[in-house]
Amino acid sequence: FDLQNNSLNSSIPSELGFCTNLTHLDLNANHLEGKIPSSIGQLRELRYLDLRNNFLNSSIPSELGFCTNLTYLALASNKLNGELPLSLSNLNNINELGLSENHLTGPILPSLISNWTEVESLQLQNNKFSGNIPAEIGLLTKLNYLFLNNNNFSGSIPSEIGNLKDLKKLALSGNQLSGPIPMTLWNLTNIKTVYLFFNNLTGMIPPEIENMVSLEEFDADTNHLYGELPGTISRLTKLKSFSVFTNNLSGSIPRDFGRYSPNLSILRLSNNSFTGELPPELCSGSALEELSVGDNNFSGSLPKCLRNCSKLQKVAVGHNQFTGSITNSFGIHPNLNSVFLSNNQFVGEISPELGECESLNRLLMDRNKISGQIPPELGKLSKLAELILDSNDLSGYIPAQLGNLGLLYKLNLSKNHLTGDIPKSLSDLTKLELLDLSENNLIGNIPIELGKFEKLSTLNLSHNNLFGQIPPDLGNLPLQYLLDLSSNSLSEPLPADLAKLIRLEILNVSHNHLSGSIPETFSKMVSLVGIDFSYNNLTGPIPTGAIFRKVPANAFLGNDGLCGDTEGLTPCNSNHGKSNKISKVLLALLVSSCVILVIATTSTAAVLKFSRKSKLKETESPRMSESFDLGIWGRYGKFTFGAIVNATENFDEKYLIGKGGFGSVYKAMLGRGKVVAVKKLNISDSSDIPKINCQSFENEIRTLTEVRHRNIINLYGFCSWRDCLYLVYEYAERGSLRKVLYGTEEREAELGWSTRVKIVQGLAHAIAYLHNDCSPPIVHRDVTLNNILLEKGFVPRLSDFGTARLLSTDSSNWTSVAGSYGYMAPELAFTMRVTDKCDVYSFGVVALEIMMGRHPGELLSSLSVSLTENAELLLKDLLDQRLRPPPGQSAAAVASVVTMALACTRTNAESRPTMDFVAKELSSARTQAKLSAPFGMITINKLASFQNQKNF
Ligand SMILES: *[C@@H]1O[C@H](CO)[C@@H](O)[C@H](O)[C@H]1NC(C)=O
Ligand SMILES: *[C@@H]1O[C@H](CO)[C@@H](O)[C@H](O)[C@H]1NC(C)=O
Ligand SMILES: *[C@@H]1O[C@H](CO)[C@@H](O)[C@H](O)[C@H]1NC(C)=O
Repeated sequence: FDLQNNSLNSSIPSELGFCTNLTHLDLNANHLEGKIPSSIGQLRELRYLDLRNNFLNSSIPSELGFCTNLTYLALASNKLNGELPLSLSNLNNINELGLSENHLTGPILPSLISNWTEVESLQLQNNKFSGNIPAEIGLLTKLNYLFLNNNNFSGSIPSEIGNLKDLKKLALSGNQLSGPIPMTLWNLTNIKTVYLFFNNLTGMIPPEIENMVSLEEFDADTNHLYGELPGTISRLTKLKSFSVFTNNLSGSIPRDFGRYSPNLSILRLSNNSFTGELPPELCSGSALEELSVGDNNFSGSLPKCLRNCSKLQKVAVGHNQFTGSITNSFGIHPNLNSVFLSNNQFVGEISPELGECESLNRLLMDRNKISGQIPPELGKLSKLAELILDSNDLSGYIPAQLGNLGLLYKLNLSKNHLTGDIPKSLSDLTKLELLDLSENNLIGNIPIELGKFEKLSTLNLSHNNLFGQIPPDLGNLPLQYLLDLSSNSLSEPLPADLAKLIRLEILNVSHNHLSGSIPETFSKMVSLVGIDFSYNNLTGPIPTGAIFRKVPANAFLGNDGLCGDTEGLTPCNSNHGKSNKISKVLLALLVSSCVILVIATTSTAAVLKFSRKSKLKETESPRMSESFDLGIWGRYGKFTFGAIVNATENFDEKYLIGKGGFGSVYKAMLGRGKVVAVKKLNISDSSDIPKINCQSFENEIRTLTEVRHRNIINLYGFCSWRDCLYLVYEYAERGSLRKVLYGTEEREAELGWSTRVKIVQGLAHAIAYLHNDCSPPIVHRDVTLNNILLEKGFVPRLSDFGTARLLSTDSSNWTSVAGSYGYMAPELAFTMRVTDKCDVYSFGVVALEIMMGRHPGELLSSLSVSLTENAELLLKDLLDQRLRPPPGQSAAAVASVVTMALACTRTNAESRPTMDFVAKELSSARTQAKLSAPFGMITINKLASFQNQKNF
């Protein structure tokens, strides 16, 4: 009975049970829903049952156990739930059993599987099975394929798996398996594929791996494996893919690795502690497609054979200590897609041959010692999207041919020795979003053509020798984040047209020779949160608009002719000469890094004062004064600050795992497997500050340590020492969402649609909890991708909550604005009043970014201008194009997330929904609603206007 690939949409009729002679039933790929009828147990002759790819949502009926003649049972890709009935143990003829992609739960009991001695293929992956993998699995000696991946199995891998001598493929990845890999496993001489990644496995990879003589694919990434790779891996002659990234492996790679593995095409060693040089014969088979060894301590040069690998697709070797010359490293690789050499000490020149690698999409060579000129041949790379060459020793002109890179959206050539003009042709880069040419020796005028970019959001031309007028045309740019023209020799008055940059957040024209007055119209730049006019020849009154009343006086420093009512400036009607009295109380406000906005000046200072009071004598080893000893409240026992100092070797760089809005974060392993993240807030700048009350500060932190929610990172405690404040948090395995979403690593494909939706849901619940269930309510203030950490299973955990509040006691002050630009609610620029609606906005930006796979800045600005302009922008085109469009069930959820996110990012704070509303709306019940139109036809306009009709 074969009805596969139809559109049957009913449930399976129980009358099927009357067909007692049926031997073969195939209903694969229909729209069947509801239960598998228990009458199926009457089909005693059934040998072949295929119900895959339907919407069956019951549990598996125990009557199925009567069908003892079944040899083929395929129920994959339904919504089956519940535990496996024990009666299935009667299926002692079963040969292939496939239950993958369901919601099945419970343990796999030994008695269930012991009789399946004929089974050759057992596929239980992508369910919610839990408990140990039973040792009885070793009885199924005919197994060729064993897939238990992506469940919740725990415990160790039973050594009995070593009995499965015919095993060809073993997938145990994506569970919570721990302990070492059993020695018996290494004796599986027929095994070709071993997937162990995403577990908690420990131990070493032993020399016995050489017994796996058929091994083609070995993937054990993201575990806790340690030790060196055994020399015997060089003898795996069939090896195609070897992947052990994100472990604790060390030592050097066996010198002859690759010599006897001519098919080696994928090698992923990133994010370990490997040292030494890459083996010279790594790619001697010329089959290499991917070389990912970033984030280690490798030195030496890239293997010479790389040049001959015509199939090469990806070379990721960033963040090591490579020193060799790259001049001849690359040949012509038609499939080469990405090259990441960032942050090494590579020397040599950029080879013109890279211009022949026609698939190249990302070329990142920043922070090396690469010299010579930028080859004009790079202009031929018609697919290039990112060209990042900053912080090298490049010289010569910027080739005009770069203007041909039609898909380029990021161009960073800063911190080199480039000379000559800025080529006008760059304005042909219509997709460009970031242009950074700062810190070079560029001369000449700013070409008026630069006003033509259609998508540019960040422009940094600072620290060059540019002169002449600032072209008024720059006012036509869609800039959002940054316009930095500082430290050049620009002269003449500021063009009034710059006031058209109403979405600009940071404007820096300091250290030039600008004259005339600051146009009154600049008050219209309502998004500004950072301004610097200092060290020019500006005169006259500063604009009277609201935003200018909050600008700190040092933004005007060094302009003797400026006057105004701002504290520190000479009032315009004063007779007391021109001297500026800039209050020492204020610190330099302007942004010091390109991502992070400055936090509270006075309040940072306040903390400083507080920490100074508690500061100890400069002793060599840290000692805690009593009230500031690192207290751990709650169920985690106690540990001392000294333990953290030891574990991080006094906050050595190598333990640095990130830099957030408010400081650096270190990973500290505290013995007995306990790992914590320590945030170090450096508050060593000095100033005169009002006192704050230590006791209330400590109480504040205590409140934060009591915040408990499954989507919020626990704060264990704090301590202050030597002008630094340390906050100790729970450690999250996978690091920040930003890293995962944009990682150069292999993980990006893992973030499928349903995972992304779950992350957004979890985040919504976390923020709603802070707003509604905490007393007093907590406004996070800095919801960004960096502050969302991911655990195993991609469970999101919000971090850094409350830090902003700790650091700003006086929120009526301009300087207390906290947050990261691109995520900050627009009203913060002028009201300075931080409300929970600011978090709602940031949440919306983050949710959109998760769905789009890139920052939604451009979308938001075009939506804020007009809805009709986007009339035909389709949802499907907006979504992250690295993934395939979401399938049926996910599509409705994705549409619902985007709808909510658009509501959250409305310019008018009042009309944004509350976080509570959002969390409820996104909760699973609603997101499972059916789509009202075919997915491919849904427009953004429709989603955005849907929210317009709603009254939150
Ligand atoms: C099943 O399909 C038929 C024919 O296309 C349609 O009329 C009916 O509404 C569908 N039923 C359900 C429950 O979707
Ligand atoms: C199973 O699907 C049917 C039909 O679509 C639905 O009515 C029922 O509520 C679902 N049951 C469960 C437990 O989800
Ligand atoms: C612009 O570039 C300069 C030099 O590279 C850098 O110091 C500065 O921080 C950048 N501006 C901003 C606001 O990021």
